[in-house]
Amino acid sequence: MAYYRQLGSVPPKRHTQHRDPDGHLYYEELMGEEGFSSDSSLLYHRGVPSAIIGAEVWELTDQTRTPNHPLKPRHLRLHLLFPVVEERGTSVPEASVDAVTGRRLVLANNDVRISYVVTGTDASPYYRNAIGDECVYVESGSGTVETVFGVLSYRAGDYVLIPRATTHRWLPGEASRLYPIEANSHIAPPKRYLSRYGQLLEHAPYCERDLCGPTEPFTVEGTDVEVLVKHRVSNLPGGVGGTRMTYATHPFDVVGWDGCLYPYTFNIEDYMPITGKVHQPPPVHQVFEGHNFVVCNFLPRKVDYHPLSIPVPYYHSNVDSDEVMFYVGGDYEARKGSGINIGSISLHPGGHAHGPQPSAIEASLGAEYFEESAVMVDTFAPLDLGEGGIAAEDPAYAWSWAGRGPDADGPDGGPAVFSNS
Ligand SMILES: [Fe+2]
Repeated sequence: MAYYRQLGSVPPKRHTQHRDPDGHLYYEELMGEEGFSSDSSLLYHRGVPSAIIGAEVWELTDQTRTPNHPLKPRHLRLHLLFPVVEERGTSVPEASVDAVTGRRLVLANNDVRISYVVTGTDASPYYRNAIGDECVYVESGSGTVETVFGVLSYRAGDYVLIPRATTHRWLPGEASRLYPIEANSHIAPPKRYLSRYGQLLEHAPYCERDLCGPTEPFTVEGTDVEVLVKHRVSNLPGGVGGTRMTYATHPFDVVGWDGCLYPYTFNIEDYMPITGKVHQPPPVHQVFEGHNFVVCNFLPRKVDYHPLSIPVPYYHSNVDSDEVMFYVGGDYEARKGSGINIGSISLHPGGHAHGPQPSAIEASLGAEYFEESAVMVDTFAPLDLGEGGIAAEDPAYAWSWAGRGPDADGPDGGPAVFSNS
């Protein structure tokens, strides 16, 4: 993120003395990417940012990965992972978990991990991800995220972008359905949207005004504060492990910062879809990119206006990608008859063509508008299933284009006849 911001108290010249009203020096920290060669910010702390008094193992939830083998398209019903009950007219999770430790791993490879969690209103522990940036899509709910840079508010439709190693915690104001996309790299707007100096260009579907960062510093007094750190551990599943660090003074002690590295939110309502006379390919829907993966969103829009256009997609073999669609709103035209619904994920792996259910093609002719919202992650390396992905699978999906599959008694155990066949 190359958009400069400055908040709170910073000295006029970097790397010079900066003191509080009583004359005590603030401690300057450079938080920067790619070894002093990319975006960075300078933060001014009241306490010493490296002063820890304890470090213990933090046991993560199950990070086991199971290969997609035999290769199949998959339908994962994420809403099954966190049962809800009705209380005073709203849905709340049966068991309250927080936005960090409650995550269940759905899909993962060595570049990105996708998980899912439905929170109650409990605050998460203080946390930072030292493996890469996080992009958390808010399917529903609202609240705030306190960070060392200041406070973000979040609402349904937001992507919450948290740079690597940013200490933060989630405080849901209500039950929140969250879809964390954790990178092993940085997550940023696609390079083709940016000028050579980093400004979002005119053809980009969003601009700097749409990115909501913290607006004032946020400081908390405290000592002996625990922070959960997710980091690389070579001998654990997925190379991912955790440490519980205890800080001598509260990590939220930054009185001012400036730079081009900070957390922000971006709401899908601020994404201006690009449409065409015939079907436009998914790259026009791209919102972010990380190393070896992209994030796209398919949003309510006018559709193709050629008189003979077919508004739903053609069948496609993305020979270099696994495609993960998370259906979050509206009425998904191309998937009518597949069992896909709000809260579903479809995984369409590289090496297998996919596209609409056949009946959806004719049904789409003459459509002028699609009322649909989906968040897509395309990865360039194959994705494994996490324990949450396996628990949420609809085994009939792979056969839904043909309308028949193996016998119910066969090795795959799927039913032989489908309601949409
Ligand atoms: Fe696709």
